[in-house]
Amino acid sequence: MFRRLTEASGAPVAITIDGVRVAARAGDSVAAAMLAAGHLIARSTPVSGAPRAPYCLMGVCFDCLVAIDGAPNRQVCMIPVREGMCVESLPSPSRIHPTWATLDFRTRAGPSSDGEGGRAKLGRVGSAEPESRGSREFTPPDRLTSFGGRPPLRGGIEALRERYDAAVVGAGPAGLAAARTCARAGLDTVLLDEQAAPGGQIWRGITASPLSRGTVLGQSYWHGETLVREALASGAHYVPGATVWGLLRQGELAVSLAGHSRLIAANRIILATGAMERPFPLPGWTLPGVMTAGGAQVLLKSSALAPAGRTVLAGCGPLVWLIAWQYLNAGVQLEAVLDTTPRANRAHALRHAASFVLSPYLIDGLKLMLAVRRRLRVIGAVVELAAHGEGRLEAVTYRTSGGREQRRTADTLLLHQGVVPNVNLAMAAGVAHRWDAALLCFVPVLDDWGATNVPGLAVAGDGAGIAGVEAAAARGTLAAIGAIRALKPGAGLGAEEHAARATLARYQRGRAFLDAFFRPSGTMRRPCGATVACRCEEVTAREIVDTVALGCPGPNQMKAFLRCGMGPCQGRLCGLTVTELMSEARGVLPDEIGYYRLRPPVKPITVGELAGLPTSEAAMKAVARE
Ligand SMILES: Cc1cc2nc3c(=O)[nH]c(=O)nc-3n(C[C@H](O)[C@H](O)[C@H](O)COP(=O)(O)OP(=O)(O)OC[C@H]3O[C@@H](n4cnc5c(N)ncnc54)[C@H](O)[C@@H]3O)c2cc1C
Ligand code: FES
Repeated sequence: MFRRLTEASGAPVAITIDGVRVAARAGDSVAAAMLAAGHLIARSTPVSGAPRAPYCLMGVCFDCLVAIDGAPNRQVCMIPVREGMCVESLPSPSRIHPTWATLDFRTRAGPSSDGEGGRAKLGRVGSAEPESRGSREFTPPDRLTSFGGRPPLRGGIEALRERYDAAVVGAGPAGLAAARTCARAGLDTVLLDEQAAPGGQIWRGITASPLSRGTVLGQSYWHGETLVREALASGAHYVPGATVWGLLRQGELAVSLAGHSRLIAANRIILATGAMERPFPLPGWTLPGVMTAGGAQVLLKSSALAPAGRTVLAGCGPLVWLIAWQYLNAGVQLEAVLDTTPRANRAHALRHAASFVLSPYLIDGLKLMLAVRRRLRVIGAVVELAAHGEGRLEAVTYRTSGGREQRRTADTLLLHQGVVPNVNLAMAAGVAHRWDAALLCFVPVLDDWGATNVPGLAVAGDGAGIAGVEAAAARGTLAAIGAIRALKPGAGLGAEEHAARATLARYQRGRAFLDAFFRPSGTMRRPCGATVACRCEEVTAREIVDTVALGCPGPNQMKAFLRCGMGPCQGRLCGLTVTELMSEARGVLPDEIGYYRLRPPVKPITVGELAGLPTSEAAMKAVARE
């Protein structure tokens, strides 16, 4: 259950959820409106029929799929409420709504002859969607238009130009800095972001947050206003609600906006798609009532929503402490904070203590942790954690390294164990990646400008490797300067480059300590037995490990046996778990195991959208039967 902290803000908007009229607020996502109204369950899984509720709140997990105004498979966390909107939760497979009848609800039946699990890849989600998905225009929240600068794109996807000098994907700190720098240098720049408003994850909702300045979220949140204003006023064409689902031929972006797709071209492309929370595959993590801590923070920032019942926050990483502090500021009572940071990390981190002491993170970090510890009971050295309940979360059990075991009744469990680069788009574009043993994830291989092995394509921000907000913005600026110099040989920008490199160096100092100190434990990263690893296809850890015994060398071969990674989230919530499980089972490094082979579309789109793409004469001939 979630409650509003500030009743007054946001104009009232009325929607219906499963036939019940609900009062929402302008600026809410549909997910926020559902949770505020006590509607937890969004859909049931096609495999077991288990209920699911919004989990990530950032468009990654696909557990929040519902039907909106008759169009199925809409992600409620990505769509703003609109007056009169009709929301229907997705029924269990035994009660399929006629418009979903062509969705292939299957039973797991072993490897299929096509090696891809037997279902058509495209159109699996939303293939039966009606043509009319509402307006071709995406409507951003009201207050965004008055936030400053050039108004967001009007006229829907057709208003996008065919070619730009520079295209930036992602309007977080990195993308905003990149777009601002490109546009100020006179490049015709488009800034595409799938969210309804700019700011990325750290500054979610900053143009319309109902929370007042300087209280709950802290000053670091409001610092984002300057960059958002500068980017919007820079002349870059900002397009909210625009998902880039593929980089096809060189310099070509496939963009989906309000249910319609188009291909546009850019001489230089900068991916600033940021980070997502690391998977936290513990027993019961798929139960409604369990969600990511970052997801809960999105609800706080964008809609002033906080958990109302008994809430447990568990995991490790700076964000755990930040969120606990923000909840304390908001007067939210947490039942407990369960710290899963391994005690042994301290000794490893000490090797990097010298640079950490000189870093900007020391003072702020200590203040935050002390403030939380003073007011909340933090239970440390938690080595086992599980969520329990019938159909929804009812209790959390844990064990500490000292052997203390406890069961706590809980309505909400918030999970977090760090963030990792959001790699899907870059990988699908052919960008080379390597395993980073300190960050425990794959990162793109980049030069000093963020340039990749794909000509004309750079990666900036946390998508390039986790380094925090200031480093993200600095990397965005550097990628932009690289693009400007390529397109305008002789362009100066020496001072800007110098400043960005100095900022990057300053904020990279101390990161090695943080990475070592908050390194999540192996048992929290690698589940065992019947614990679900792949949320979409409900594949267990044991099933994955068993495929290694059958001779599966890596995640792509395993797909044919288990369909693991082939659900709508496209491996985002199981990719790292699978790599690490197989690495351990085979006794080889994660780099040797590799990651899923990703291909566009990196987010599910409808067959209608694909069919609506303009087609050349040559392409038609290539598939036509004589
Ligand atoms: C859930 C979450 C909460 C966080 N909260 C905080 C916090 O409170 N404080 C803090 O210091 N750090 C926080 N962080 C870390 C923080 O995100 C980074 O330090 C910083 O914001 C990274 O900036 P960025 O520009 O690289 O990426 P982001 O800020 O993540 O921005 C990436 C943007 O790209 C967009 N995008 C991604 N894929 C596509 C696509 N295919 N098409 C179109 N758009 C796309 C996303 O919508 C997003 O707006 C958080 C991270 C996460 C994952
Ligand atoms: S909650 Fe919407 S995709 Fe995860």
